[in-house]
Amino acid sequence: MSYEATRDRLERYFDRTAAPAWERLTSDAPVSRIRQTVREGRDAMRAALLDRLPADLAGARVLDAGAGAGQMTEALARRGARVVAADISPSLLAVARRRIPAPLHARIDFVAGDMLDERLGAFDHVVAMDSLIHYQAADIGAALARLGRRTAGSILFTIAPRTPLLMLMWAAGRFFPRSDRSPAIVPHADAAIRAALASAGAEGTLRRIARIARGFYISQAMEFRP
Ligand SMILES: C[S@@+](CC[C@H](N)C(=O)[O-])C[C@H]1O[C@@H](n2cnc3c(N)ncnc32)[C@H](O)[C@@H]1O
Repeated sequence: MSYEATRDRLERYFDRTAAPAWERLTSDAPVSRIRQTVREGRDAMRAALLDRLPADLAGARVLDAGAGAGQMTEALARRGARVVAADISPSLLAVARRRIPAPLHARIDFVAGDMLDERLGAFDHVVAMDSLIHYQAADIGAALARLGRRTAGSILFTIAPRTPLLMLMWAAGRFFPRSDRSPAIVPHADAAIRAALASAGAEGTLRRIARIARGFYISQAMEFRP
């Protein structure tokens, strides 16, 4: 499936089908035991990604690529960053706007659209937490190459790692009920991302920085420094 086709499916999924489920998952409201493990895993992943960025981001321009309901956006703005919160789902961005305390809004641009849009400008850092996990390796490589050309510091992103356990769990398909099951998550080996970066002509260093496994959440954090 092409980048555009994946993006369009994700737009339909996150903006309509799964918007209420995402709003709940990203809140403090009670959720099922399975989703609670996902929530805890995602909290740990957000902390691991934030650990890689300066504690003081005052003056830095940061792209929250695929900002969703805005949890990372809020954390970045609290550190003083000027955040571009880009997501193809206007309804999730509306949740973010409603949730994030008003005094932080002066530092945040909420942009409904493609996170790779050149018109978003240049950045000191980019964070794409769980926003690229549905894309093919070639699309991830091309995305990092495009973002890398206008990012001065690090690009932090996550992939679904190719572990036997993850492959088994996704095969079991219990991640979400059938009615709002997400488009397939595509697990990747580090080497596949490295190869995709090379064929997209992206130069820089790629490192694995964390792997979080909590129940039904298995995700791997990577850092690309152009
Ligand atoms: C799994 S959610 C993660 C949201 C957020 N990063 C977080 O961790 O809470 C993935 C998000 O990426 C967004 N997304 C996927 N592809 C995108 C694209 N090409 N441009 C902008 N947003 C995209 C989806 O709409 C969705 O909100």
